[in-house]
Amino acid sequence: MTRIGFAYNQKPDPVAAHDAAELARADEEPPSSGSALATLRAPANAISDDEFAEWDSPATIDAVAHALSRCGNVIRLEATDDFPQRLRDTRPDIVFNIAEGLRGPNRESHVPAICEFYGVPYTGSDPFTLALCLDKARTKEVLRARGVPTADWTLVRSRNDLRALTASTPALPLFAKPVHEGSSKGITERNYIASANAIEPVVLDLLERYEQPVIVERFLTGAEFTCGVLGNGASARVLPIVGINFGSLPEGALPIYGYEAKWLWDRPEAPLDIFSCPARIPESLRAGIEDVVLRAYDVLGCRDWSRIDVRLDAAGLPNIVEVNPLPGILPDAAENSCLPKAARAAGIDYDALIVACLRAGAERQEVSLDGSRS
Ligand SMILES: Nc1ncnc2c1ncn2[C@@H]1O[C@H](COP(=O)(O)OP(=O)(O)OP(=O)(O)O)[C@@H](O)[C@H]1O
Ligand SMILES: [Mg+2]
Repeated sequence: MTRIGFAYNQKPDPVAAHDAAELARADEEPPSSGSALATLRAPANAISDDEFAEWDSPATIDAVAHALSRCGNVIRLEATDDFPQRLRDTRPDIVFNIAEGLRGPNRESHVPAICEFYGVPYTGSDPFTLALCLDKARTKEVLRARGVPTADWTLVRSRNDLRALTASTPALPLFAKPVHEGSSKGITERNYIASANAIEPVVLDLLERYEQPVIVERFLTGAEFTCGVLGNGASARVLPIVGINFGSLPEGALPIYGYEAKWLWDRPEAPLDIFSCPARIPESLRAGIEDVVLRAYDVLGCRDWSRIDVRLDAAGLPNIVEVNPLPGILPDAAENSCLPKAARAAGIDYDALIVACLRAGAERQEVSLDGSRS
């Protein structure tokens, strides 16, 4: 029987998460509603309270383990301090990896790198791609170099860089983001820069609060989409495209799917109707979005699955906003989790989505899995 290791980081309970917030950072897609952590959140303390937002809940971990059990015996390998020893001792045939990691900008690479060290096959992207995609500026450099459209940007690491940016009188509006975060950490309406005077205070504030470089991008004014991708090489395919309904945001809100939309305005008692899937768009636009998404997936070296954000520029052309090679996978259909939602629209239920990723990884590495069991 196939032995499937399952690597994950489990979200601590909210109180422990709050106390331990200084210790760690994590990245993935947030639940849009129903999270115990969400009750801790408010704009003023957004930085420390969302440190564990990206780790997975026991419900997600159980759901993934259940799906994996269709293809073999599941060995849970929580990615805690003794993960390397437990991996070495158990030596599974393959590791299904959703571990977001604990520390630093390379945190998502740690589990795959340890698997490589011990020669254990694993699912998903390799340490290089995971680290690359967690650096929004370097990701854009690769995309730009390979001709995949992405908005113009400047990386600001210091006050000197900031002076140079303001002196260059860049085209407005701009949008600023911490370079190494996800789940809209540090991405609020305040990051929208409509006037030249606002560049300095907005960017300085982010530099100081997040203690990392800030990427300042041309703001893409068109419609936004997010796309799930499954598979590899010629068989990589884009799942039905998810459209972001900015019209569902509160009156007067900016068209940004950021912190407020993900964590404050989308509540269990009043969920936002934020996604349409499949997005209602013309066939030619669908083909254009799929083309840039698959090119981004390819040039960044994504494997098995990913979720890729796209936004149209003023000319209506799709640009890559960012790439998530460790996509959020909340099992509850009532929660706004894009990849499972896109899979469902393609007739792929939750278990089948997890198994599709596992099979893609197993095929790549010539690992044989047990047949589908219910
Ligand atoms: N250059 C841009 N132009 C217009 N809107 C942008 C731009 N960059 C980011 N946004 C808005 O901000 C949102 C969050 O940005 P981004 O996707 O980079 O952050 P994230 O925190 O990594 O997201 P995720 O939760 O998907 O991991 C986007 O979904 C989009 O609405
Ligand atoms: Mg995003």
